[in-house]
Amino acid sequence: MFTRLTHLECPACGRSHSVRRDVSYCVCGSPLFARYNMKLVEEAAQSNQFPSTENSLWRYADLLPVRPPSNITTLGEGWTPLLFANRLGKHLGLQNLRVKDEARNPTLSFKDRGISVAISKHLELGSTRFALPSAGNAAVSVCAYSAAGNAEADIFMPKDTPKAFFEGCEMYGGIIHEVDGNISDCGEAMAKAGGKWTNLSTTKEPFRVEGKKTLAFEIAEQLDWNIPDVIVCPTGGGTAMLGIWKGIEELQQIGLLERKTPRMFAAQSEGCAPIVRAYEKNSGDIEPWTDAETSAFGLRVPSPFADRLIMKIINQSEGGAVAVAEAEVKPMMKLVPRIEGIDICPEAAVGFSGLRNLVESSIVDYDEEIVVLNTGSSMRYG
Ligand SMILES: Cc1ncc(COP(=O)(O)O)c(C=O)c1O
Ligand SMILES: [Zn+2]
Repeated sequence: MFTRLTHLECPACGRSHSVRRDVSYCVCGSPLFARYNMKLVEEAAQSNQFPSTENSLWRYADLLPVRPPSNITTLGEGWTPLLFANRLGKHLGLQNLRVKDEARNPTLSFKDRGISVAISKHLELGSTRFALPSAGNAAVSVCAYSAAGNAEADIFMPKDTPKAFFEGCEMYGGIIHEVDGNISDCGEAMAKAGGKWTNLSTTKEPFRVEGKKTLAFEIAEQLDWNIPDVIVCPTGGGTAMLGIWKGIEELQQIGLLERKTPRMFAAQSEGCAPIVRAYEKNSGDIEPWTDAETSAFGLRVPSPFADRLIMKIINQSEGGAVAVAEAEVKPMMKLVPRIEGIDICPEAAVGFSGLRNLVESSIVDYDEEIVVLNTGSSMRYG
């Protein structure tokens, strides 16, 4: 169980980059992807040595970037249940609905996957201080993993983020910067502050996506090395979309999955739906959304940095992007716990409501195998 990482590659222009301290994105403006010696991982898979039996996402360490296992900063993230949601499925008109329950992660959201992997790798490369703009969940996660890795964390969060996210950051000893505005304004405030830190902004460094790709590894493994017909991702910056797609491609390369792909759907709130607008206009670029406002704070990303890659995945997978009325968020947050016993965050409520819209418009069929990401818990939203 050790990494087969070789280099970084730009999926847009094909340039190769070495793995070095403070690596960010490509000179052409695209996010970078980690690449591995797939031949060696294929051999490990054939001899049943990949995945390992570790009860966390580190069971896939061969395809994660950290070198010796002693460099891993872990709080037990990942390897979350894929729950069969029979009653919710029936309610939505579906026979085969499953929920990947990411609320079980150490700081209550799927952000822990990317943050554990990224912080482990950047610590290995010599970083001692991290910073990021965040809608809340990633901030708490960075503070927790920085504490675990004995590093400092500077967090730039919108002032109107629910109090419990600030309290979570404080509990783990993070340095908090409150910003008047949304996540884009937080990014600007962070650039202006200009500290000597490693920038962990969504898709502006390559290793958070590596953690997120384990979502695909786990879903496939939990379905006995099959892939569902449809995956619905509540999408803001798009790390889950990118990670899941990359994860599926890698499993296919090492022969653990056949060359069938799921249709990937991004769900957004009508209050901030730049991906849905680009999809409806059939545009490869995403124009920034003005006056972004939604109670699903993690989806309030007016201008995702990975825009072209997100649109490419939607198109290649023959998926789509679906918007949900803000008025649907609260009722869905009540419905799912009541009929399934699953605690869901507002972002996931957008995912489930988006799925309902897809069923109602016959884009998704009742007998398809569907997975929705419950990206986090409701507990910090007040
Ligand atoms: C709970 C939750 N779900 C979904 C998202 C969106 O994830 P991504 O930015 O990877 O698209 C976020 C991001 O903050 C989040 O906190
Ligand atoms: Zn490039």
